[in-house]
Amino acid sequence: MLLSSIFVVLLAKLVLADDYGVDSKSKFDFDMYQGPKAQSDTQDLPASDLTFTLTGGQSFFNPYVADRLGTTGPILISSVNLIQQLAHFVRERVPERQVHAKGAGASGYFEVTTENGAKLSMAKVFNKVGKRTPVTARFSTIAGNSGSPDTVRDLRGLGFKLRTEDGILDWPFLNHPVFWLRDPVKFPHFIHSQKRHPAKHVTDHNDFWDYLSANNESIHQVMRTFTDLGTPYGYRHMSGWAGNTFRAVAADGSWSYIKYGVRLSHDNCGLNLVKDCCYNRSRNQE
Ligand code: HEM
Repeated sequence: MLLSSIFVVLLAKLVLADDYGVDSKSKFDFDMYQGPKAQSDTQDLPASDLTFTLTGGQSFFNPYVADRLGTTGPILISSVNLIQQLAHFVRERVPERQVHAKGAGASGYFEVTTENGAKLSMAKVFNKVGKRTPVTARFSTIAGNSGSPDTVRDLRGLGFKLRTEDGILDWPFLNHPVFWLRDPVKFPHFIHSQKRHPAKHVTDHNDFWDYLSANNESIHQVMRTFTDLGTPYGYRHMSGWAGNTFRAVAADGSWSYIKYGVRLSHDNCGLNLVKDCCYNRSRNQE
């Protein structure tokens, strides 16, 4: 029984390799986080060196070919190339996210500079002073649609993905320590009032102020947003505060509530303060 299962598995592998022409060894560099870099690896090759494939990887001789009855007869629904191309085509636009649609990314590292983390948590990311963990960061505005300016008066989001030895650690922050609301059931109503109206395609200022005036727990954030803190000079010029409180567990089982945050080494700066504050400070640091 065992032998025959092994045989079936081997046979299946042989059949796959034969049918689809898939090499067991990839021709392309493989990036652990982005997958095969097929596009960048092949973009300078002449077309004659490339093979057009169907979605399963099988080579197909011509992307423009659909099966017909005879040479001029009707197109057949069994035209795999045609059906696959149309199916992909109508699904290739991913709808924009409701919030944080517009953003920019950066990569870097997180470095441990004190022993505080190791005292509170057994997570390996904190375990040694000097330890570096790769981070991918995404900075965003919240209400803006794709194409909106980076300079808008809005909160900013900071999303950090730390690739730690224990697994991915995600830290979402905002550039303010307070928020518009506490009850998540209000969130869709709030966001609808702040974004462009879907029928008119412009912000409806009555909606905007109706929500904020009728939900007065927002007032603290309204006051902050309408200062220079609402228009940060750039993504490099803002700190980040977490909404969530985390529970850190140490190796001996003891635990503590902790809050993460990211702090600039220079002040938060608004666009209007650029001259006095950000520009000179960041220039001095360089
Ligand atoms: C009731 C409160 C909240 C609700 C219902 C909420 C909901 C959401 C939703 C639906 C998204 C978009 C997810 C997607 O489309 O994939 C999002 C993104 C995000 N949220 Fe919140 N959020 C809330 C509060 C907060 C707070 C307090 C923070 C941080 C302090 C925060 C930080 C972020 C960030 C940074 C992103 C964007 C992440 C990225 O760049 O991919 N949110 N939130």
